[in-house]
Amino acid sequence: MTDSLFSCLIENPLQCTVVVNNVEHQVPAQLSVAGALLYLGHRQVRQHSVSGEARAPFCHMGVCFECLVTINKGQQQRACLQQVMPNMRIDTVTKELTQ
Ligand code: FES
Repeated sequence: MTDSLFSCLIENPLQCTVVVNNVEHQVPAQLSVAGALLYLGHRQVRQHSVSGEARAPFCHMGVCFECLVTINKGQQQRACLQQVMPNMRIDTVTKELTQ
């Protein structure tokens, strides 16, 4: 029933180059930044400021703030609310991401 919602990713995957933690990647251009990080296998995008616990995108609609990243060396922002753009620089708060 939801297949048509994802057909643009499956049938016409326009690629976009992004730089995540100084490593260049190709991701589908239709993804959010949070989606691109998950697509690339990142299961942790930041650490809890008090406990140090691993955190990752949860709600994907701008409510939980678990997806904070730095985009183009600016202030931290919610990755789920930003669409990937060509040559976008994405920096996660923690560098050990692909565990
Ligand atoms: S995943 Fe919840 S605010 Fe981004």
